[in-house]
Formats: sequence, C-alpha cells, structure tokens
Amino acid sequence: MNKDQLIRTARALVARGKGILAADESASTIAKRFSAFQIDSSPQTRRDYRELLFRSKGAIEQSISGVILFDETIRQQASDGVELVKLIEAAGALPGIKVDIGAKLLAHYPGETITEGLDGLRERLSDYRDLGARFTKWRAVIGIDAHIPTPYAVDANASALARYSALCQEADLVPIVEPEVLMDGDHDLDRCAGVTEFVLKRVFMALSEAQVLLEGMILKPNMVVPGKRCPRQAAPKEVARATIRVLNRSVPVAVPGIAFLSGGQSDVDATANLNAINRIGGPWALTFSYGRALQAAALKVWAGHGENAPAASAAFTHRAFMNGLAAQGRWSK
Ligand code: 13P
Repeated sequence: MNKDQLIRTARALVARGKGILAADESASTIAKRFSAFQIDSSPQTRRDYRELLFRSKGAIEQSISGVILFDETIRQQASDGVELVKLIEAAGALPGIKVDIGAKLLAHYPGETITEGLDGLRERLSDYRDLGARFTKWRAVIGIDAHIPTPYAVDANASALARYSALCQEADLVPIVEPEVLMDGDHDLDRCAGVTEFVLKRVFMALSEAQVLLEGMILKPNMVVPGKRCPRQAAPKEVARATIRVLNRSVPVAVPGIAFLSGGQSDVDATANLNAINRIGGPWALTFSYGRALQAAALKVWAGHGENAPAASAAFTHRAFMNGLAAQGRWSK
C-alpha cells in the first residue's frame, strides 16, 4: 500500500470547488433512466450518452475531480476510437469504478439489504487498476421505516464496506465509502438524523477495526433530509444544520473529504443544500458526488438524439458549475 499516493488521490478528489460525477449506473439502472424518455438502452446508446458527458471539457476541467464508471464503461471507446477513460484523463479528472455488485435481500431481515461483491474483489481491483481506475465506490443501502434499520443489517453492511476499503487501499485505489440512508418514506428530519448518525458511527467503527487509512478514503453519505413523503419538508438551512451536526458527531477529522450523494433530491435542491452545508462548513472538504442531480437535465435534453448532444452537454455543464460554486458556499439562485 502506497500511503502517499492514496492521500494525494483522496485530496485531489475533493480539491476546492470540485466534486465527483457519478456515472456508474448499472445496465439495469441506466435502462430505467433511459426508458423515462423512450431511449433504447444498448451498449452504443449508453456509450454515446456517457461520451457526451465526458466530452464536456469545460465542466470537467473546472468542476469535476473524478468520474465513477460502471464495468462496461471503463472498457468502452468513444465514437472516434479513443478510450472513454482517456477522455476523462484528458479533461484533468480521475477515472473511478463502482465495484459492488448491488444490494441483495438480507436473509431473515425483511425489507433490508446487504451489498455484495467481495468475492474475487482483489483480482477485479487489479484489473480495474490496469484499466486506469484510481478510485472505487461501494454503496450500502439502508432503508428507514418503523422497524428498520436493524443493528444487524447496519453492521453487516459496515463490515462489507470495511473489507472493501481495506482491499482497495491494498491495491492503491482510494475507496469511496457510501452508506446511503434512503429518502424513501414519511419519516421526519430527526429520524433521518438519528439513523444516519448510528450508521456512520458503526461504519467508522468497522473501518477502524479493518485498519483502513482514514486519510486515504472519501466518505459519500446522504444529507440529513426528511423522507420524501414527510409532510414537513426542510429548508436548506435546516438540512445543513442537521447534516453538519451528525457529521461532527460521527466522522473523524482525519477523513479528507465528504462527497454527498444526491439520492433523489431535485437538482436545484441538491445544489442549494450543498451550498448551505458549506456556509456552515466543517473540518473536511464538503462536496458532491452526484448522479441524478448532475445528469437529469442533460438526459432530458439529449433524449437519445445525437443532434441534441451539444445542448445536453451545456445542461450538464451548467449543473457542474453550479455545484462547483455550492462546494465553496458561493452559489446563489
Ligand atoms: P445519486 O446522486 O443519483 O444518488 O447517485 C449517486 C450514486 O453514486 C449512488 O450510488
């Protein structure tokens, strides 16, 4: 393990005013996103769509530190034969790769999941490193209702995140540790805060037991927000206060950066909330690692038609710039 390299990579991922583009939707997830606009999902349409994002040079140069890819994408070439990984590098960002294989039902624990993908991971990491990856992502999924999450499910996921992180660092790849507490449900802000705090504490306990180098990782948590169906939604200031309070209680200062997921927030909400979080600030860099909140507008404009690619790229660039400002607390409507 090359500690200096891990630390340099982790810091680069959370460089001031920059964040991460999550473009690692699995084949089934991207098919779902495409089908909303009647776009056929094939290796070529998926490639065309991602190529237009990665060719948005201004957006990436100015506001994107890293791009998380899916297994298919890290092996694909652009329409002119250049590897997609090379496009990302040419724009000054680091290529990364999602290495989990998804959240599966947890036996005996109805409604809860365990993320799989540890078997054979050491060998896969070595392959990804050869393909140009510098960092990785693993997402654990924690739902909320009256009876969940259970401590057992949280700890099973924390333990998998810890084993994944240690294997990545062994391979000189910076792990993004993503324990996502879902927004689904009618729970309030306080309930999300309580669950998120519990989950993060258990995750850092497991990371510590696995001897994960905290300086060489990035945390990708949810913001503390009320459930989507909660009648009382929260303003950015409330979200920011609750989020920072939870992070202060549970995330060691040694972690260089926290890159939030957007998790189904609208794109403007995700920007406004990140901006409010940075107005308060903390001992870590606080930035974005957005999928939907960076891509939704671009996907809608593109709609599967090549002639829309420049306008789609402009829509993506706008969101990237806005989130780059929010990562510095400098965004306004
Ligand atoms: P969203 O920002 O759409 O939640 O995606 C981020 C991500 O990478 C989820 O794993």
